[in-house]
Amino acid sequence: MAKITVDGKTIEAVEGKSLLQTCLENDIYIPNLCFLKDMEEPTGACRLCLVEIEGRDKMVPSCKTKVAEGMVVRTDGPKVREAQTVIFKLLFSSHNMTCKNCLSKAHCELQKIGKTLGLRLKKSMSANGEADADTNMRHPCFDLNTSKCILCRKCIYVCAQKHGKPMLSIVRGGRNGNSTAGIACEYPPRVDCYQCRACVDVCPVNAIALPTLVSGA
Ligand code: FES
Repeated sequence: MAKITVDGKTIEAVEGKSLLQTCLENDIYIPNLCFLKDMEEPTGACRLCLVEIEGRDKMVPSCKTKVAEGMVVRTDGPKVREAQTVIFKLLFSSHNMTCKNCLSKAHCELQKIGKTLGLRLKKSMSANGEADADTNMRHPCFDLNTSKCILCRKCIYVCAQKHGKPMLSIVRGGRNGNSTAGIACEYPPRVDCYQCRACVDVCPVNAIALPTLVSGA
């Protein structure tokens, strides 16, 4: 075990464990979108979990930082909040904000992070805010709405964990010179997709959701 100090509070923590997970388990919330409990190799995709560590010049992503004896951490200083706000606004700008019918609304990570950062989320903050929110891929196992995807890659990670080779991937494309990226899924689905749907459970923004029933189908 190691003793570390986080925001002035002393914590007994497991040496070598993810600093983000340690903080979350001790009721210290650090904004995060791409981390999952016990992730062996965090992807560090969202960059939201930045913290300051005494003796280091630069802020570090806490999900990829391991607990070490004597570490002194600051999770909510002005520099951290400023950087998180810039990163969050960038991520949010690609999210189609259609909260009214969103299944995530009671436990939306974006709302939670916005609140932590003192931001009121508005459609005008999102370049995708007025985009058509219709599902753009109907898969037998889920609906995929790429206009909500914030590219956290959690779905790819859990799919790879469960089935070896992930069925989901990031695809890049663009119209009129605008490069865009989103999640795509191989089709047809594998047999084990029907029992799994781990990607649905893990999506923090309802970009992957249980399939809606199409009338007449
Ligand atoms: S949670 Fe650490 S980079 Fe996303």
